[in-house]
Amino acid sequence: MRELHFSLSVYVCFLLLFAAFSFTTASNSYLPADNYLINCGSPESTMLQDGRTFKSDSQSVSFLSTDENILASVDSVSDISSSSFPLSLPLFSTARIFREESMYRFLVFRPGRHWLRLYFYPVTHPLYNLTTSVFTVKTDKMVFLHDFSVKDSARLVFKEYLVDVTSDRFSLILSPLKNSFAFINAIEFLSAPDTIISDSASAVSPVADFNGLLKHAFEVSYRVNVGGPIITPKNDTLWRTWQPDVGYMKIPQGVKNVSVAPDVVNYPEGGATPLIAPNAVYSSASEMADSGMISPNFNLTWEMPVDSSFSYLIRLHFCDIVSKSLNELYFNIYVNGLMGASSFDLSALTSGLSVPYYRDFVLNASAISNDLIRIQVGPSSSLQSAVPNALLNGLEILKMSNSDGSLDGLFSSSEKHSATSTAVKIAEFTGLALAVAAIVLLVFTICRRNRRPRDWEKRRSFSSCFHPLNSSSFCIKSKSSYSNTFTSGINLGRVFTLSELRDATRNFDETAVIGIGGFGKVYLGELEDGTSLAIKRGNQSSSQGINEFQTEIKMLSKLRHRHLVSIIGYCDEQSEMILVYEYMAKGPLRDHIYGTNLPPLSWRQRLDICIGAARGLHYLHTGASQGLIHRDVKTTNILLDENFVAKVSDFGLSRDAPSLDQTHVSTAVKGSFGYLDPEYFRRQQLTDKSDVYSFGVVLFEVLCARPALDPTLPREQVNLAEWAMTRQRKGVIEKIIDPRIAGTISSECLMKYVEAAEKCLAEYGVDRPSMGDVLWNLEFALQLQDASSQLDPPEEELENSNIENSGQSSLSDSEEEPIIININDDSGVVVGSPLFSNIGDFQGR
Ligand SMILES: *[C@@H]1O[C@H](CO)[C@@H](O)[C@H](O)[C@H]1NC(C)=O
Ligand SMILES: *[C@@H]1O[C@H](CO)[C@@H](O)[C@H](O)[C@H]1NC(C)=O
Ligand SMILES: *[C@@H]1O[C@H](CO)[C@@H](O)[C@H](O)[C@H]1NC(C)=O
Ligand SMILES: *[C@@H]1O[C@H](CO)[C@@H](O)[C@H](O)[C@H]1NC(C)=O
Ligand SMILES: *[C@@H]1O[C@H](CO)[C@@H](O)[C@H](O)[C@H]1NC(C)=O
Ligand SMILES: *[C@@H]1O[C@H](CO)[C@@H](O)[C@H](O)[C@H]1NC(C)=O
Ligand SMILES: *[C@@H]1O[C@H](CO)[C@@H](O)[C@H](O)[C@H]1NC(C)=O
Repeated sequence: MRELHFSLSVYVCFLLLFAAFSFTTASNSYLPADNYLINCGSPESTMLQDGRTFKSDSQSVSFLSTDENILASVDSVSDISSSSFPLSLPLFSTARIFREESMYRFLVFRPGRHWLRLYFYPVTHPLYNLTTSVFTVKTDKMVFLHDFSVKDSARLVFKEYLVDVTSDRFSLILSPLKNSFAFINAIEFLSAPDTIISDSASAVSPVADFNGLLKHAFEVSYRVNVGGPIITPKNDTLWRTWQPDVGYMKIPQGVKNVSVAPDVVNYPEGGATPLIAPNAVYSSASEMADSGMISPNFNLTWEMPVDSSFSYLIRLHFCDIVSKSLNELYFNIYVNGLMGASSFDLSALTSGLSVPYYRDFVLNASAISNDLIRIQVGPSSSLQSAVPNALLNGLEILKMSNSDGSLDGLFSSSEKHSATSTAVKIAEFTGLALAVAAIVLLVFTICRRNRRPRDWEKRRSFSSCFHPLNSSSFCIKSKSSYSNTFTSGINLGRVFTLSELRDATRNFDETAVIGIGGFGKVYLGELEDGTSLAIKRGNQSSSQGINEFQTEIKMLSKLRHRHLVSIIGYCDEQSEMILVYEYMAKGPLRDHIYGTNLPPLSWRQRLDICIGAARGLHYLHTGASQGLIHRDVKTTNILLDENFVAKVSDFGLSRDAPSLDQTHVSTAVKGSFGYLDPEYFRRQQLTDKSDVYSFGVVLFEVLCARPALDPTLPREQVNLAEWAMTRQRKGVIEKIIDPRIAGTISSECLMKYVEAAEKCLAEYGVDRPSMGDVLWNLEFALQLQDASSQLDPPEEELENSNIENSGQSSLSDSEEEPIIININDDSGVVVGSPLFSNIGDFQGR
């Protein structure tokens, strides 16, 4: 019940939103429940002449599954012959480039038919030649484009699909071919009216009724306004484009254009509506020139090239705007030479003149030869009394998805053709890791045999197992001069000398300490070149420390992710165990939430941080070869860099997640009180759902700005997880929100956020969502927050003032800063995109 009420209120909120938009789109009375318009790569939102506003790239990052991608642009595409899409030109001028499989994810407020419109044009980019890119565009169930590329840099590519969405999510996946990349210029994803397609049509080969259209997805191959000019999205009821029929018309000398004023068109009670086709389509037509000839001996004929491995839905639009009285016009309809309708009597079907009518035909692939669809209308010879004539007003040809769920080639979307897909990547990585491990083991064995190392040596060189294939530098070298470069795959970065680190930390001065953990102290160091580092020095007298240290170094060697703290190098001289990390300038998340004098983070910043941390954990659980469990998720282990980008740190307690044949890892309970999964505590069984529980506590901590455990509070309030859950059950969660931000949270967003946190804290692991689901829900919450702040500007003012306070750009801004990308090919190469070093202000909508 609550669920229902919730989605209803969200729905209403969105309706309001679109009502607000619709002031500018006067000609359209249709309000799509879902309406996502994105001008990818664009620094600012784009208002088209048809009145619709496409979101800028920064406004749409929350739809993206990854933030590692690149923007590209050209100044203008006006020099390109583009009469086909005159109003859409601004959408083609910028693009977003993806080097790995990426997703745009949309929440679906009303399941059912949706338009998906995609815009592609290979704009110029200094590093990427977009005409070389090869990629697949798909959803979980449907392939839209397979190994697609835009080779012709003078061609604008527009693809339009009609898909049935049954769930509350829609993911558009762009998946580059191995060693290639994907790009896209703009996306439209919006609800289509249910009436747009019915389940049945007439099959023409063999002639029969065809049922089951609703099972198919469609690609619009042609949409033609016969006998009339182009109809742009501005003049269409559903923002479609209808092209003129010039070029498809055979025997043009036998044809005459006819047209009447659009308002002459008189829509019937049932049947065709302005949503099926606007009156501009029905008010123009082609008829036979010299109609009334005694013995007309030709058909009006249109031919369009198609891919003959697919079946097609063909919709013909008619409106008798030529007859003077009823029952004058009879004609035959042929599809690829096959009789579609004989002695078709429009006036009998519509009982009126100028009344729109449409007819759907399904043409099976087996009836298509020469890769052509041929539509013909010609006078019926059997009825001598009639004036010989025929007409056609509009024509739509829609490619139907095949039984594999594909609209491009015989590939189903589950096929792992793309080597960049995660599974393959993981497999590759596992293979590499195994190979490296085998060699390391071999070398290690040989060394042991040669050197008979004593215990302390083994311990001292705990990191030796990560040493590279360069066996000459291993074993034989003296202890202070290990090779500086690690080979690919396992990249621990640079080896620091102890004296370098002593210099950097003023000989491990106590004033340089920025943190203390079970393993020892963390120092802030500065290299001679000014680089800041976080230097973690292991406590040599604690054996616990060594284990955690080794775990951490093992973990980190496998992990590279934007939302995990990266290791820069290490030092293992003189029994020291020192790890060197990137310095996280803003420190732990907790310090920005409570207990310090730092300015409070805005709600949006907090959401962004939680989403970042969730991404890091999600990667930990699913991205590494076997999956890892962090085991110590808490607000002090989520660090913020200078742009408030969240990174998960401290993998000292991490464990490999259970493998497939195990359901859990049995282990002594470790972690931090207040965050501990009760199930883990009870049964000492560790799963990735233990991290989900802890993350739920983090979510409440961020919302309520108080510690997970606060013994100074009354008994029932000491444990935040319990307290928040009881408040939530009583429906008074608002009462315990951080008062500094309480007024800025939209109620839909709050509901979604708390719902996500609540699910994380489920008593039993099986009832908790996966980290991926948590991530999705947080992104949903962010979208709801953004949606409401579009209606409600005061919140943004607060955000802006907050940003000024802290003297920092907000997290959302950081997404638009020069994007630094870690190429995920294990080489650790970092490239920067020079474009858009400062894209407009996200808040400045
Ligand atoms: C991009 O690649 C295509 C095909 O390889 C080539 O013809 C074109 O000149 C390249 N463009 C640029 C700007 O390098
Ligand atoms: C019919 O109208 C179209 C679009 O206005 C035009 O391009 C075409 O030349 C016309 N055909 C004839 C035969 O007049
Ligand atoms: C679109 O409709 C407007 C009137 O609403 C009309 O003036 C204009 O000519 C139409 N444009 C096209 C391309 O049909
Ligand atoms: C019209 O086309 C149909 C199918 O191609 C053909 O059978 C018929 O003979 C044609 N009619 C005329 C008058 O050419
Ligand atoms: C086309 O015909 C084939 C064989 O007759 C049949 O298996 C297939 O289902 C048909 N396709 C459609 C879309 O009806
Ligand atoms: C191995 O190490 C030596 C000495 O550090 C170096 O000269 C050589 O280039 C290295 N070889 C490889 C393959 O890295
Ligand atoms: C190192 O560990 C020992 C024993 O666990 C402890 O007594 C000592 O204070 C620790 N030293 C540092 C620098 O943390």
